[in-house]
Amino acid sequence: MSTMRLDKYLAEAGCGTRSEVKKIIKTGAVLLNNTVVKDGAVKVNTETDNVVCLGKPLSYSQYHYIMLSKPAGCVTATRDNVHKTVMDCLPQDLHKNLAPVGRLDLDTEGLLLITDNGDLAHRLLSPVHHVPKTYYAKIRGVVLPEHIELFAEGVDIGEDKLTKPAVLEIINTDDAASEIKVTITEGKYHQVKRMFHAIDCEVVYLKRLSMGSLVLDETLQPGEWRYLTKEEEEYLLSC
Ligand code: URA
Repeated sequence: MSTMRLDKYLAEAGCGTRSEVKKIIKTGAVLLNNTVVKDGAVKVNTETDNVVCLGKPLSYSQYHYIMLSKPAGCVTATRDNVHKTVMDCLPQDLHKNLAPVGRLDLDTEGLLLITDNGDLAHRLLSPVHHVPKTYYAKIRGVVLPEHIELFAEGVDIGEDKLTKPAVLEIINTDDAASEIKVTITEGKYHQVKRMFHAIDCEVVYLKRLSMGSLVLDETLQPGEWRYLTKEEEEYLLSC
């Protein structure tokens, strides 16, 4: 039998921070097996008990899946001596063991998955799975239709092998700058920036829009986060 304190259970289910949920419990808005409970220390059986918070039935899940709209200026790491990290965008007492899946550069924005399911993180990052990642970028330099073909064949970024085929879409271009979308299936260091460098262009803004069918929720402002929906979770677990 797996049990945990009611206040911890509610915090883990995303009802608020530990101190917020304590206040909610005091108002009588939490039902445990249809009975109002006002003591956060009461034990919940995570497998069999029914918990309702503010009218919403909750279910316990062993793992947590968070979508962060990563802002520029924070590093994708759990700790850093110089910069803010992506974990600083989350409340401190959210969950232990959460870690970002993969890496976005300091200046890259957009979709970042954060989870405590290490097996899933490993699967999503494994080269075997080729999860496609789509980025939007502003480019200094001219991206030409011929580059679409070049990206599809693979680009020489100075490694032993060409990059895997990438899908390049030119949104617009003039004689000094371009806007593009690019989809890659690998995660080499600075990969998108290096691919454009190889065609004498420079990425001046980069944002990840999606990973497989997991799409950045554009209602999240940079620095904001939310839990994945059940559908999003199921999609990821099927990867
Ligand atoms: N490619 C890059 O160059 N940077 C990122 O942050 C992600 C992909």
